[in-house]
Amino acid sequence: MKLRIGILASHGGSNMQAIIDACKENKINGSVCVVICNNSRAGAVDKAEKAGIPVYHLSGKNYPGGNDLDEAVLLVLKKHKVNIVALAGYMKKLGPGVLKEYKNRILNIHPALLPKHGGKGMYGIKVHEAVIEAGDKESGATVHLVNENYDEGGILSQVVVPVLKNDTPGALADRILVEEHRLYPITLEKISKDDIKLP
Ligand code: GRF
Repeated sequence: MKLRIGILASHGGSNMQAIIDACKENKINGSVCVVICNNSRAGAVDKAEKAGIPVYHLSGKNYPGGNDLDEAVLLVLKKHKVNIVALAGYMKKLGPGVLKEYKNRILNIHPALLPKHGGKGMYGIKVHEAVIEAGDKESGATVHLVNENYDEGGILSQVVVPVLKNDTPGALADRILVEEHRLYPITLEKISKDDIKLP
């Protein structure tokens, strides 16, 4: 299927950039149609603008009431005819409207080998600290479907990254991020070519 990708980002946007590049290089059959960011100062905003992709700043600050943010996000995704949503460092939980409309069509990337080291509060450097503290010999990244619970949706793809002797959380994070930039676009490419079938 031709993917019309909507990206939700909060941070640097390096995974988002990797997906944009893979679309431009025609590796993914599709394009990034819209970027939604809940942080107006995120690097992702600049990157999306440079790529000429419409970017919206939607956050709990502009939409403080009940399901207002959920409805605003859904409206933007539908306006741009998005058929698959990719979370790339997005730190907010999605609302019921988006989860229902895009059931099994929302992907996330997590910087560890789920189901290990996931769940509420497990993000950023905390994930890598937990891996090293547990004495794991391997970590990596996981692309998975998103449901109402953090990091619990079906796993679509994983890449393994060895944990080195005397590794630091920062060094491990850097090596995993390089692999994330490969894994996320490849997973979307496989979905677009029907090599990975979504439920
Ligand atoms: C990545 O490590 C990703 O696994 C996690 O958040 C980070 C986002 O980085 N969900 P970036 O914004 O893509 O650079």
